[in-house]
Amino acid sequence: MKRFYILTFLTLSISSFNAQKSDNSLKQAFQNKFYIGTAMNLEQINGKDKKSVDIIKKQFSSIVAENCMKSMYLQPQEGKFFFDDADQFVGFGEKNNMFIIGHTLIWHSQVPNWFFIDKDGKNVSSEVLKQRMKNHITTVVSRYKGRVKGWDVVNEAIMEDGSYRKSKFYEILGEEFIPLAFRYAQEADPNAELYYNDYNEWHPGKVKTVIQLMKDLKSKGIRIDGIGMQAHVGLDTPSIDEYEKAMVAYTESGVKVNITELEISALPSPWGTSANVSDKVAYDEKMNPYKKGLPKDVQAQWENRYQDFFKLFLKHQDKIRRVTLWGVTDNQSWKNDFPIKGRTDYPLLFDRQFKVKPIVEKLIKLTETK
Ligand code: XIL
Repeated sequence: MKRFYILTFLTLSISSFNAQKSDNSLKQAFQNKFYIGTAMNLEQINGKDKKSVDIIKKQFSSIVAENCMKSMYLQPQEGKFFFDDADQFVGFGEKNNMFIIGHTLIWHSQVPNWFFIDKDGKNVSSEVLKQRMKNHITTVVSRYKGRVKGWDVVNEAIMEDGSYRKSKFYEILGEEFIPLAFRYAQEADPNAELYYNDYNEWHPGKVKTVIQLMKDLKSKGIRIDGIGMQAHVGLDTPSIDEYEKAMVAYTESGVKVNITELEISALPSPWGTSANVSDKVAYDEKMNPYKKGLPKDVQAQWENRYQDFFKLFLKHQDKIRRVTLWGVTDNQSWKNDFPIKGRTDYPLLFDRQFKVKPIVEKLIKLTETK
């Protein structure tokens, strides 16, 4: 009798182990490495796009809102906050046990005009802008205190050559707007992780200034927990080596790195890898070569590129908190319209029919050896 119980127990344990093994999800494969996340658009957040929602639940352990938590949506008019979409997004994350990221508090894009001007259309004083920043950050961060686990506090404030972007925040407040934003966020939720997020953060000039910025914050007693390295990358640029150098440099200054906004465009790029959303380039047929699908050689190149990046991330898994894809399926990717409107791109891990691409299995395989 006793033997029967032991045998049954063993059979059950082995089959549940196999069931777990055969789950084949990114979430499971990376669970002891770092969070693996995705951005969610509105149709996913409100549940209309059921197929993507199923993919998100199965595959990802972290989420970020692609748009609905940007200031132009959260506070379209001064003092009039709109939280419906963001509430749903955070609710979804909690229900599914996900590491929820808030994107983004202070950014020069997708920010409403009222933020910077008075009733006559003139720039507000530094005191007024500080007050508006404080009110925005405090209201938003407090609402999701303890629920949103990490915030992109400031997004894209530094240029490739290391100078500060001449945004309205900078014009009115100078460099000080960054420490102020971090201080307001820290006061509103002392336990949330706070990040500085940017694109092209492998450019040596940018690396230098971002590291200096971290030092300045720390010397003022202000916390910064991580650097978000956006990864809107192409087939050729940046090199893995450049990316690695920057990652290591950031972590040597005492923070974790988040690989944010990852997608690998398969299309020719008119200028490299800028991701400044207001930059646009006119449509040109030559720049949209794969309307009916990727040729085999480009497909192989694209897969290799994803694998090279993930090999790098796995090599430095102790330094990485999270890797987040910028969307689920190819047809939803902003890359179809950026920087050239109306192209057909293939940057993500799921295809236009919501099918998992073969690359996913290959990325999962990489976790078995690293
Ligand atoms: C993009 C979204 O994907 C688009 O839907 C929107 O129209 C513009 O913004 N850097 C960022 C992201 O930090 O918020 C941007 O997202 C892409 C570049």
